[in-house]
Amino acid sequence: MQNSYKPLRIAGMGYSVPETIITNDDLTKLYDTSDEWIYTRTGIKERRIVSGNESAVDLGFIASQKAIEKAGMKVEDIDCIIAAASAPPQLYPSLACNIQARFGMANHVPAFDMTAACSGLIYSLQVARGLIGSGLYKNILLVAADNNSRLVDWNDRGTSILFGDGAGAMVVTEAEDGIDDVLSLDIRADGSIGQYIYMNMPGKNCPLVEPCDEVDSTIHMAGRDVYKFVVTTLPDFIDECIEESGMSADDIDYLIPHQANQRIIEAMQARLKYPDEKVISNIEYYGNTSAASIPIALVEGVEKGKIKLNSTALLCGFGAGMTWGAAVIRLREGIC
Ligand code: UT7
Repeated sequence: MQNSYKPLRIAGMGYSVPETIITNDDLTKLYDTSDEWIYTRTGIKERRIVSGNESAVDLGFIASQKAIEKAGMKVEDIDCIIAAASAPPQLYPSLACNIQARFGMANHVPAFDMTAACSGLIYSLQVARGLIGSGLYKNILLVAADNNSRLVDWNDRGTSILFGDGAGAMVVTEAEDGIDDVLSLDIRADGSIGQYIYMNMPGKNCPLVEPCDEVDSTIHMAGRDVYKFVVTTLPDFIDECIEESGMSADDIDYLIPHQANQRIIEAMQARLKYPDEKVISNIEYYGNTSAASIPIALVEGVEKGKIKLNSTALLCGFGAGMTWGAAVIRLREGIC
């Protein structure tokens, strides 16, 4: 039987990070830590964070403008927005609706958030594949944006050292030349280990009933558990994704992993036996920017000449949920 699924083209990408830089040395003013401890354990030297009223909406909007421009499209061409946000500035209106409003887009353009934490870009790419593949939508804007610095507990030195703020965006469209830019993609979740990384919503019961426990609404993370989970689960999963793409690991030009911890990136690199030049890491300068970390690393990698386009890349991400995902994609000339 002939496959009638429409192929997807990655048309344009962009990213945006705040101006304000917080170094590891700056963090020593907040708690007992050191540049040496943070850098050795994580590979992070500094991160960008929002200041004043700047938020993930501003970052996501700028990244989206760049992605639409690189796609050679106009705002009117976009017919759906999916935002991958871990914890947007407003739960509703969604981050996607906020960005739609900022563009002044027509109201026939649906806009919604999709929560898969740091795996969000890969998850949203899978959703977009379904929507474009079935012919429901043609040009979809995917935007991953978070202002983690507003969500961490700045007294918790085990968690707040890791995160930074940023946004990445990708415009995907139907590939009219019939060449699918997604060679393979798989997403997974295991809610039974959700306690490894969680963030509660604040809230109180109606005063007429028994009160619920008070919860704090900052990011909580069992760092060691996350680390162990990732290094034991992801390698086999990535192997399956590579096999599904019909390529061998050697044939894929770049590994662009979620930027969560340099030691995790190096564990993946060792497993794939990749030389340094095939592995894209910018965690040193941005920390963990959630779902935005992969698109930021990709676009910045191209800008800095670390990535040559007209190539292929293996993306892999993991995050709260726990969720994880991987994809082998084609990087066409001119996407960023
Ligand atoms: O997208 C989100 C994904 N999240 C991750 O990928 C997180 C993965 N995990 C990690 O990156 C690491 O677990 C961390 C970097 C978060 C922590 O490193 P660790 O080697 O697992 O440290 P630990 O939490 O086991 O703590 C070891 C010690 C503790 O002291 P004691 O109890 O042994 O005396 C901590 O209190 O290090 C202490 N510690 C610190 N010391 C100096 C924790 N944070 C700091 C700090 N500076 N910032």
